[in-house]
Amino acid sequence: MNAKIVALGGDGIGPEVMEEGLRVLSAVGEVAGLEFDVRNFKCGWQYFQDHTRLWEEGTFEACKEWADAILFGAVGWPGARPKTWGTYDGSVILDLRYGLELYANIRPVRLLPGVPIMLNKKQVEAWAPDDVDLVIVRENLEDLYFGAISTPYPTDMTDVQVDERTTSRKGSTRIIRFAFEEAIRRAGKAGRRKGHSSSVTCVDKSNAFPGCALFRDVFEKVAKEFKRMPTMKYYVDAFQLALLQDPARFDVVVTPNFIGDIVTDLAALLQGGLGMAPSANIGDKKALFEPVHGSAPDITGKGIANPTGMILSVGMMLGWLGQRSGDKRFTKASELVNSAVAEHYASPGPKTPDLGGKATTNEVAGAIIKLITH
Ligand code: IPM
Ligand code: MN
Repeated sequence: MNAKIVALGGDGIGPEVMEEGLRVLSAVGEVAGLEFDVRNFKCGWQYFQDHTRLWEEGTFEACKEWADAILFGAVGWPGARPKTWGTYDGSVILDLRYGLELYANIRPVRLLPGVPIMLNKKQVEAWAPDDVDLVIVRENLEDLYFGAISTPYPTDMTDVQVDERTTSRKGSTRIIRFAFEEAIRRAGKAGRRKGHSSSVTCVDKSNAFPGCALFRDVFEKVAKEFKRMPTMKYYVDAFQLALLQDPARFDVVVTPNFIGDIVTDLAALLQGGLGMAPSANIGDKKALFEPVHGSAPDITGKGIANPTGMILSVGMMLGWLGQRSGDKRFTKASELVNSAVAEHYASPGPKTPDLGGKATTNEVAGAIIKLITH
């Protein structure tokens, strides 16, 4: 066995895209000579309705003690919100992030040839796919989320609610260093888009919030350790505008947690919408990989969810396993997945309805698997 994977499908379309993600994993494993031991666990708000707990017994322990990596679908279901969180039975994704110390949330944004950009035509007429190739490195444990995880979620709404926002020098330093190291890794990678130069951009709201001022102070200090890496600094409001006007300007972007939550959904537009967006939650020991999209109750059960965000998350997981183990087979498998997805969208193959097609989740994944195994 080459790697142990915990698979958490969760709610809604989570299990639907998970099934396809796992199909891709075993197909690419066969080509690259890798075997995966996969353990599935049920979790989420739908599971909570029947079991008054958010995940099967032993799930967290399997993630922490057994797994090399975790693949995650989505959680959330209307009318089924658990009353408390802030414990290991509170919110599946936040509990995993905190419980496993997954401090870096990585969200690449890459427009593939053949994928329509989800903005009005005028705004994007000037762009080519080469213009969108950036990665957002989102701090994953501090900020408003740290306050949220340590406060019981209110059952009756009060008239005033104060959300506490925490920023530390230690937490900021490790994510900002991670961002600079990521920029160096990307600079060394084959297949960089032409015309792109390396840089690290700090996106914050340091003109208004002391926590963001600390984040930026740390950014300036860390930048001195990486003297040769060009840097930029934006307030988040101006950044959103610059991102939509000229995405080619950006390479690696580093943000505090909540700002990162918001800008990554917007940035997903630039790669064809939420259905296309993968992500990684990385710690020093463990990592969890998930599509950026949620459980999508409106299309659940129809078999039409776009599996690409999940499949690219599998690609990121394989890349991380390769980086961590030094085993080149993982790296090769990761490249196979990524290039099959790129090849799929460059051709007139099946697409799901979010991209204007008529294909099912299963057909899109099947077409991508064919490209991996041919
Ligand atoms: C995300 C999600 C989560 C977040 C929610 C479900 C807590 O929106 O992964 O971006 O805010 O981090
Ligand atoms: Mn989000």
